[in-house]
Amino acid sequence: MRLQLATWPQVEAYLAHSNSAILPIGSTEQHGPTGLIGTDALCAEAVATRVGDILGVMVAPTIAVGMAQHHMDFPGSMTLRPSTLMAVVRDCLLSLVRHGFQRVLLVNGHGGNVATVQAAFAETQMELDAITPRPDLRTRLLNWWEMPEIDRLSSELYGNSVGHHATPPELALTWALHPETADRRVLEPHLAPRGSFHSAADFRARFPDGRIGSDPSLATPAHGERMLATAAAEIARAAKEFFAAT
Ligand code: NI
Repeated sequence: MRLQLATWPQVEAYLAHSNSAILPIGSTEQHGPTGLIGTDALCAEAVATRVGDILGVMVAPTIAVGMAQHHMDFPGSMTLRPSTLMAVVRDCLLSLVRHGFQRVLLVNGHGGNVATVQAAFAETQMELDAITPRPDLRTRLLNWWEMPEIDRLSSELYGNSVGHHATPPELALTWALHPETADRRVLEPHLAPRGSFHSAADFRARFPDGRIGSDPSLATPAHGERMLATAAAEIARAAKEFFAAT
């Protein structure tokens, strides 16, 4: 059930029996030479939409640009500064609250968003506290790629080639959604370097093709179907508890 494809009377009818919503959040950033710029947003949206279908919960539009400052040395990457992303998340939550949504699950596709989203949750609660002493908004953030069953499936399929950026699980998922974009060419070195970085230019110097520790040539569209089904089923179980909690 997608908010964008509903009419306002349909949303009104939905709110008469449910106060739950899912808000996908991703990023628009390079994912190595073979991965799509939209990977993190596409994955979050696909998983969130599938969870919404399983649970019959309304899925809001995806926040598709995230905090990706460290990817800005690669063409096509876009970023919001953390303060902007906090404001976007807060305003999206307050818009939903205005209509009666009180349980909002964020399905996230990008590690760089986590700290900012958690800060935005606190900002939103503070703002609601100022209006009413007992606000009933509950928020939760789930990172689809960190779900335990995704971890298990990723190790089973890719062993130590998962890495940390432009990973085979996320590229596989986008290739399941858009098979015409699947680019399985073998990269050199097969396994990208690992390590940390301190700026956009430093990121590109240390990880020249954009990958960190991964070999995305192992991914296939069929793997992506399994990733999507596994992540959606596991997140749906966690979300069901979250939405039902009193
Ligand atoms: Ni990613």
